Amino acid sequence: MTPDQVESALQGLDSGLESVRSAADLQSLEARRLELLGRKDGALTNVLKSLKDLSVEDKRRLGSMANTLRVKMEQALDERKAALEKEALQRDLDSLQIDLSLPGSSSPCGRLHPLTRTLDELCAILSRMGFAWAEGPHVETDFHNFAALNIPDDHPAKDSHDTFYLSPGSLLLRTHTSPVQIRTLQSMRPCSSVRIMSPGRVFRHENADASHSSVFHQVEGLYVDKNVSLADLKGTLRSFLQALFGPQTRMRLRPSFFPFTEPSAQVDIQCALCRGEGCAVCKRLGWLEVLGAGMVHPNVLRNAGYDPEIWSGYAWGLGVERIAMMRGRVQDIRWFYQNDVRFLEGWQ
Ligand code: DAH
Repeated sequence: MTPDQVESALQGLDSGLESVRSAADLQSLEARRLELLGRKDGALTNVLKSLKDLSVEDKRRLGSMANTLRVKMEQALDERKAALEKEALQRDLDSLQIDLSLPGSSSPCGRLHPLTRTLDELCAILSRMGFAWAEGPHVETDFHNFAALNIPDDHPAKDSHDTFYLSPGSLLLRTHTSPVQIRTLQSMRPCSSVRIMSPGRVFRHENADASHSSVFHQVEGLYVDKNVSLADLKGTLRSFLQALFGPQTRMRLRPSFFPFTEPSAQVDIQCALCRGEGCAVCKRLGWLEVLGAGMVHPNVLRNAGYDPEIWSGYAWGLGVERIAMMRGRVQDIRWFYQNDVRFLEGWQ
């Protein structure tokens, strides 16, 4: 081709762009693309091929014209393609009669169990207060669960801790988290101070009813050091219970008995519903029992290898279900284990 023929061919193609912009559907658009830019026989491709026979001067001038035209064509093809695809989508939507303003169907989202959340919260507070995590086995020895905790075989306190025995007289399912006290102290040789919390599952031979279950959870607390006093226990428990139930929470210690502490106390908080007046929730008492506590009995220290003349400490044990029931106004402990989503979803 002569330079003039190339130039007029390019001009002709430029005016042919209109056919791209007006292509009626994606198929005819693709046909147009092949006509213009197809590798084998596209009109512009052919023009570009013919450039090689021209002079350097013409090649430069016409080559740049041809390139500009190629970019314009590609742009026009892309634009038309996008417009046609959008129209096709709209047609599909119209034919399906989809209402895009309808709310979507929600997929249910899982969450942590109320007891796990309560346990996590209890431990988060205690760990901020300096208590370290300690764990013990579910299958315990009679020694750790009873004897070392100053509960001799014939002691009536053992009655309330009837449990599941795995082999007569020695291995059993632990009835409380208190054996972790012994295990921790024993592991601290030579003796040093300990400040631990021990959350976990415990087991009792119990008839299930609204407030009893044969499997439940406790969190044990233990602090052993030199010169630990009852005042330390009170101050620590007050801070703990106020972090848990709110800064206005009032607490009281009632004398009680546990073989492993002396003195021992039941710890109550004032009923937040009636502010101590007495109501159905606190059974007209004005107070709610939250945990058992006391100063570690000298025999317990001695059994674990600590000299009670040098060391002293406090301990407590609380029921996780009890705390969760108080906070969530749950009337039946069994609801925690029935996996009824109506109950589980009620927890925020
Ligand atoms: N172990 C006791 C129980 O399960 C609870 C308890 C009371 C633990 C007083 C303690 C404590 O550490 O000092 O009934």
